[in-house]
Amino acid sequence: VEPDAAWRDEVLRLAEERDAVILAHNYQLPEIQDIAHHTGDSLALSRIAAQSDARTIIFCGVHFMAETAKILSPEKTVLIPDERAGCSLADSITGAQLREWKAQHPGAVVVSYVNTTAEVKAETDICCTSSNAVDVVRSIPADREVLFCPDQFLGAHVKRETGRENLHIWAGECHVHAGINGPELAERAAANPDADLFIHPECGCATSALYLSGEGIVPAEKVKILSTGDMITAARSTNARKVLVATEVGMLHQLRKAAPEIDFRAVNDRASCTYMKMITPAALLRCVRDGLDEVHVDLETARRARGAVQRMIEIGQ
Ligand code: 13P
Ligand code: SF4
Repeated sequence: VEPDAAWRDEVLRLAEERDAVILAHNYQLPEIQDIAHHTGDSLALSRIAAQSDARTIIFCGVHFMAETAKILSPEKTVLIPDERAGCSLADSITGAQLREWKAQHPGAVVVSYVNTTAEVKAETDICCTSSNAVDVVRSIPADREVLFCPDQFLGAHVKRETGRENLHIWAGECHVHAGINGPELAERAAANPDADLFIHPECGCATSALYLSGEGIVPAEKVKILSTGDMITAARSTNARKVLVATEVGMLHQLRKAAPEIDFRAVNDRASCTYMKMITPAALLRCVRDGLDEVHVDLETARRARGAVQRMIEIGQ
């Protein structure tokens, strides 16, 4: 299937027939981002999914994102063009492991990143995304212990920002972001001294970026730790002519659209998420045509997870 004008017309016509809204994460293939009714980060897409009047949500992203939309709107049909699109970070903690961790810290508040399964969300007090993780943790009384899962790099970022000692961090990671490492960033930053650094907090290099600014190697105002959505906002307001981007490479498409005059370069151009890229033009066409794959979350799990997801979309509005 070629992502040409005929493909585009057919996908949009079939979507309308189904009363479907097409959402695409910032890491999707450029042609998928361009056909979607809305693109955005995990938090923005969750909010749009919750507010949409459409009967069907087609989630071009990974499975936990579509599951989150289903948790918020159990009465809607939620489709994902390929249900095999998983997430290594979501796989790094199971419901049973979280239950065991909670038993070791009675009374602690559980904050889970949205990159988790519905079963983990059902054991969670508040979910967060990379754009509101710091606000979510700040909303918890200072004397309560916090269990933060599953991403260790985002957890370290939250701990640094909040200065909170009673925050315990699970040792999970995303294989794509963990692979964007400190030495690579230091080398790219040294070769491009005029560039801003936009760094996703899931990256292995996030701590190194702060080290580079702390040591005066890169001016502090040039180092920005941002969610994918916040990178777009920052691209519109920066004076820099060059930006080094540390996240999944799909992000470059929206950044270049938002600020065509800026030279955006990936810190690691092999940082591509194979799960995100399973949503191909052919898969999207099959999805709108045949109503596949449908995402199901059992009603009891969805009921238990809903409060945590709702708190996430309310905080940091
Ligand atoms: P955000 O879009 O919330 O920054 O998330 C990044 C990510 O890795 C999603 O899988
Ligand atoms: Fe999961 Fe990482 Fe892919 Fe995002 S980039 S979907 S966190 S594996």
